[in-house]
Amino acid sequence: MEEVNAAGGAKKKLYSAVQPTNALTIGNYIGAIKNMAAMQDEYECVYAIANMHAITVRQVPAELRRNTLSVLALYVACGIDPERCTLYIQSHVPCHAELAWVLNTFTYVGEMERMTQFKDKSAKHADNINMGLMDYPVLMAADILLYNAEVVPVGVDQRQHLEIARDIAVRFNNAYSPTFVVPEGVYPKVGAKIGDLLDPSKKMSKSSENTNGTVFMNDGRDVIIKKFKRAVTDSGNEVRYDPENKPGVSNLLSVYTAFSGKSIAEAEREFAGCGYGQFKLAVGETVADALAPVQSEQARLLSDKEYLNGVLKDGAARAYKTASSTLSKVYRKIGFYQL
Ligand code: TYM
Repeated sequence: MEEVNAAGGAKKKLYSAVQPTNALTIGNYIGAIKNMAAMQDEYECVYAIANMHAITVRQVPAELRRNTLSVLALYVACGIDPERCTLYIQSHVPCHAELAWVLNTFTYVGEMERMTQFKDKSAKHADNINMGLMDYPVLMAADILLYNAEVVPVGVDQRQHLEIARDIAVRFNNAYSPTFVVPEGVYPKVGAKIGDLLDPSKKMSKSSENTNGTVFMNDGRDVIIKKFKRAVTDSGNEVRYDPENKPGVSNLLSVYTAFSGKSIAEAEREFAGCGYGQFKLAVGETVADALAPVQSEQARLLSDKEYLNGVLKDGAARAYKTASSTLSKVYRKIGFYQL
């Protein structure tokens, strides 16, 4: 039966995923998870833990396993409700790899070589520029297209991947007949790209070498406050949102508004006349206060493996139902003989 939204209309379908590499950062939270939780009432949501994407960079197996459950527990601790959303692990649904293979034949090598993330990661992992790293956006397109997703909430670093998913969908639809829904990216108005605290021009990333500029969702209170106290600001002393001229302060304001629920204008008023030191301390304390209950709920959930496994089993079964139906349609259209 089709799910309905508050206005009584059919709910639009929404898809997103996070890679279980390392601990997640407040960038992942602000850019994606916060929206994923907020959108669950209005949309029919499918949320994956993208472990197949994660192995495009070498992982320590035990850590990958641990991080996978950690992401699930974090999803739930951040308010994503497994009763209302489908939560599953990408590798539990074989259709992702299968559709990615078909979509590979609708994707050009040159397009993949031009992807910014591929170029960045190739430079960073020059000893392991594997085919999976290059094919990453095609697997991501398969993720989204399998679930007929109309909207995909992500940070702006994923915009290029989303555009290619749209291009592939359109290409396939034009070659056969309308098959895939062409998805739209949804980016937060503020915080679509949280910057590193020590270099706001750089994306805050799970895998930065210097972790002092990255705030992890599982950092303790003292660590969080210390990291914010050290954050770079800009010349002058005014707390004003101006990403062009004040990238450091604007980044901190984005973080502050995401965790306090206040608007940028309210925050600017609140910190009018404050020095940067006082402002940075307030941001650190706000983030630490907001994360404390999330962290304890995540820890509680992680101690209940039976519950988490139940969520995953149920999620994989639900995901498979939709994904296998899309895949079967694709196989039919391309001429695979089916029994
Ligand atoms: P990943 O795991 O790198 O990041 C997860 C989500 O967090 C967002 N994000 C940020 N947003 C704002 N500021 C930042 N500093 C920041 N860092 C990360 C990302 O944009 C993303 O939304 N390829 C994806 C995972 C994926 C996916 C998908 C997403 C696989 N299949 C299908 C959507 C749909 C990725 O690596 O995200």
